[in-house]
Amino acid sequence: VFFVRDPMKFQHFIRSQKRRADNGLRDHDMQWDFWTLSPESAHQVTWLMGDRGIPKTWRHMNGYSSHTYMWINAKDEKFWVKYHFKTDQGIECMTQDEADSMAGKDGDYHRRDLFDSIKNGDYPSWTLHMQIMPFEDAKTYRLNPFDLTKVWRHSDYPLMEVGKLTLNRNPTDFHTEVEQAAFEPNNLVSGIGLSPDKMLLARGFSYADAHRHRLGVNYKQIPVNKPKCPVNSYSKDGVGRTENVSDPVYAPNSYGGPEADPQRGQDGTQWYADGDMVRQAYTLRKDDDDFGQAGALVREVLNDEERDRLVDNIVGHLSAGVSERVLQRAIEYWCNVDKTLGDRIAKGLKG
Ligand code: HEM
Repeated sequence: VFFVRDPMKFQHFIRSQKRRADNGLRDHDMQWDFWTLSPESAHQVTWLMGDRGIPKTWRHMNGYSSHTYMWINAKDEKFWVKYHFKTDQGIECMTQDEADSMAGKDGDYHRRDLFDSIKNGDYPSWTLHMQIMPFEDAKTYRLNPFDLTKVWRHSDYPLMEVGKLTLNRNPTDFHTEVEQAAFEPNNLVSGIGLSPDKMLLARGFSYADAHRHRLGVNYKQIPVNKPKCPVNSYSKDGVGRTENVSDPVYAPNSYGGPEADPQRGQDGTQWYADGDMVRQAYTLRKDDDDFGQAGALVREVLNDEERDRLVDNIVGHLSAGVSERVLQRAIEYWCNVDKTLGDRIAKGLKG
């Protein structure tokens, strides 16, 4: 899940979690101000403030697509899917105190842990499970399946195991292989597509924009980003071009240059949604509310000890420089998630 569902709010969300304009410091008041004025954040903030908000290492956490994507099978049948990469190392977390002390001892702790594990042959792996929804179900599912602040109930769409992701090689050059890596959700192979989730559609162009700014227009010629198969394109020039082209440099031409194959874009391997589905993508449905899934997480998924730590974390966070009016709204926000939780937080803040 994620903090917001409207891509226009993304830059505001990010700024509220980063640093103030005046002193350049991070600021809890700014974070809680934004979260409590954006109640759709409640589900994600509950996860963040719980144990899983501080994974023990990057090997001990799951990964999720969050967004809904499309899969298209060999028969051109289309499905909506969500990815769940479940850690084979088991979920392990640190307490706030452990994390505070680790941050003082070794600020590079997570990077070191992952690099050393791989170097020592202790390869971390994740089992990939999918939730798969038939195309037409999206129109009638109880909640909007393209809203990434929500999860699909596992009882509605059970996890199906499909494979494994193993990290078995470290980079040898951090600069060329990590700092110059350019991941982008729009870079998809045939058979995988986006969905009407507006956040995902916004990501579909903003990462590539960021890469052109950060690495130059030819970022796909940097070896770490370069396709392993030949790519024929008449796009050329610009800063940082390293591959030579040969004539003809235009199309159509009579000299045997590569020809476009527009049929490929229409053979059913591209993502598709009917217009109505896209227009409805953000219409709220029966079970769509801001606090419902967050409340269920608190009441039905967490155990007593996890709930105690959730209260402690939230109280600790809210006690560090949050102004009175934001504090009042935060208590209301948590009461909306779960009344008992909200009352305990209010009490903790007084005490
Ligand atoms: C409208 C929503 C979003 C926009 C416009 C957006 C945009 C961006 C941009 C421009 C970058 C920097 C890319 C680069 O220079 O390499 C970035 C980084 C990142 N984003 Fe997003 N993002 C959005 C939502 C999300 C969501 C929902 C997720 C998780 C599911 C996510 C995960 C990440 C990660 C993991 C990075 C770090 C990548 C790296 O360090 O190379 N983003 N985002």
